[in-house]
Amino acid sequence: MEDIHLLMMFFVFVGCLANGSTLITFDDIDNLTNSSYNIQIPNGYSNLQWSNVYILQASLYPSSGYVTALTSGQDVAFNWYGRPMNISSSILFTINSFIAASAWYDNNTVIMQGYQSGTLLYSQTVTLYIKTSLLVQLNWINIDNIAFTSSAQWFVMDNLCINGIASKYILASEQHV
Ligand SMILES: *[C@@H]1O[C@H](CO)[C@@H](O)[C@H](O)[C@H]1NC(C)=O
Ligand SMILES: *[C@@H]1O[C@H](CO)[C@@H](O)[C@H](O)[C@H]1NC(C)=O
Ligand SMILES: *[C@@H]1O[C@H](CO)[C@@H](O)[C@H](O)[C@H]1NC(C)=O
Ligand SMILES: *[C@@H]1O[C@H](CO)[C@@H](O)[C@H](O)[C@H]1NC(C)=O
Ligand SMILES: *[C@@H]1O[C@H](CO)[C@@H](O)[C@H](O)[C@H]1NC(C)=O
Repeated sequence: MEDIHLLMMFFVFVGCLANGSTLITFDDIDNLTNSSYNIQIPNGYSNLQWSNVYILQASLYPSSGYVTALTSGQDVAFNWYGRPMNISSSILFTINSFIAASAWYDNNTVIMQGYQSGTLLYSQTVTLYIKTSLLVQLNWINIDNIAFTSSAQWFVMDNLCINGIASKYILASEQHV
């Protein structure tokens, strides 16, 4: 079963890249800061605003859900201190899918709410585990904000597939690389 799940995730990511969506893997942030631990995602990364979203190198915590959720590269995103986090933009976007796990506690209930101009358009709840990753498929169209709230502290995200934002935004500090 796990193999089938992994295969499905693989095709989702190939699909995300192939159809012109933006696949955000969070792997290009640590090289900008030369740090692998608890880096706040800068606003403007991938043309989005990131509120309370951090990254770390999953291998720092070998037995955690950080490793479970890791799908590409070395880095994953998480809600700092287990508190609510948001991803937003002044431009409407579509959130297709991402991979998730719970960092430290099983049965972590994560509530996601998608807004447009402050109006709640979508809501979904998933339950996350430390050792099993979940492909969260939302396909929420025309939102400008998604809010995440977890019941059991830190949850982990990787390979976020998004539409409608300009393809990869170049941070000022990246332009010389
Ligand atoms: C692109 O592919 C992803 C992954 O299969 C899917 O979720 C998304 O809806 C697709 N987007 C478009 C515009 O077809
Ligand atoms: C970041 O740096 C590491 C080590 O130099 C390298 O292996 C990796 O490919 C780099 N990642 C990106 C996204 O450039
Ligand atoms: C990261 O390290 C490289 C090599 O030492 C250095 O050239 C670069 O300025 C550093 N970047 C930051 C953001 O500290
Ligand atoms: C996330 O968005 C909701 C709805 O607009 C807002 O109430 C909340 O304060 C935001 N949270 C963060 C962490 O930005
Ligand atoms: C999982 O969490 C839900 C909601 O908080 C709770 O009702 C349920 O009893 C929990 N199940 C386990 C096995 O902990």
